[in-house]
Amino acid sequence: MTVSIDWNALGFNYMELPHRYEAHYRNGAWDKGGLVEGNVLTLNVGSPALHYGQSAFEGMKAYRTKSGTIQLFRPELNANRLHDSAEKLLMPPLSVAQFLDAAMQVVAANADYVPPYGTGATLYLRPLLLGVGPNIGVAPAKEYLFTIFAMPVGAYYKGGMVPTKFMVADHADRAAHYGTGQSKVGGNYAASLQAGRYAHEHGFGDAIYLDPIQHRYIEEVGSANFFGITKDEKRFLTPQSPSILPSITRRSLLTLARDRFGLDAEETQIPIDRLDQFGEAGACGTAAVITPIASITYNGEVHQFGAGGIGPMTQKLYDELTGIQFGDVAASAGWIVPV
Ligand code: PLP
Ligand code: COI
Repeated sequence: MTVSIDWNALGFNYMELPHRYEAHYRNGAWDKGGLVEGNVLTLNVGSPALHYGQSAFEGMKAYRTKSGTIQLFRPELNANRLHDSAEKLLMPPLSVAQFLDAAMQVVAANADYVPPYGTGATLYLRPLLLGVGPNIGVAPAKEYLFTIFAMPVGAYYKGGMVPTKFMVADHADRAAHYGTGQSKVGGNYAASLQAGRYAHEHGFGDAIYLDPIQHRYIEEVGSANFFGITKDEKRFLTPQSPSILPSITRRSLLTLARDRFGLDAEETQIPIDRLDQFGEAGACGTAAVITPIASITYNGEVHQFGAGGIGPMTQKLYDELTGIQFGDVAASAGWIVPV
């Protein structure tokens, strides 16, 4: 089948595709699940996902290679992270095998919607785990629904790999240190909506959060992690904090920076008043890929990075990462899973 989509014009927008996966947990066990059609869920009004935020999700992509095959990037890390998010919210984790099988089925069934190689667009998969069923007290659900739906996407931040302005949300916290920041759960994103909207309305790509205790160290962006490259181009630094998402992109960049570019790659506390150590900075994530940070506005002051273009090391990391994801550059063992 040929689908008529302007692949080059895609942003990060919802689109309903023909197939998604659904599985149910009832009476203490997950059923075997399978593909279904239609994207509307019917849930009991008492579902804890609706009232108490008992919901977790993932974000991953399927990539079309030059030869036309389709591949996933480190999908078992998404499976493991959903497992951890589920445990945090007292939800029954799905097995890694079932998660991977579900992802493969959704991609294969919607293969016509995996964008062509060369457009930069990908098929975005959104696995979602919800506590459902009739409840009203604050307690975990007895039943659960797991689904994966998909849509073709382009850049998350406008323009993709173009330098973007960010601002520090210094009067808002996204997550507490011993709260749910490390988990990919709905509540963290609810907590980021207000500051995110303020940032967008003021011409910024997104808000950057500071640590919730001292408001001194960088945490992450509302929908991506942060990294900086020191002016001497010797160090790749990314925040260390108990309340940021353990990003798969960030873990991959730490490895690539260290193993392929010889940088000293470290997770460390990054004070917001030490941005001057960096010649380049970026936001990284599945949706964001690598979005170079042009400037960070904090306390009314604008801190610019480099000369305003894309920094050379940011470009190298982007080329290496996306080269691996689209199959043009040799991957580390186990990073690529063919569909
Ligand atoms: N931080 C937040 C808050 C996110 O929503 C995301 C997106 O998933 C990331 C970081 C990046 O994580 P990953 O690279 O696993 O997509
Ligand atoms: C992702 O990068 O997959 C995310 O989940 C970020 C955002 C769209 C919530």
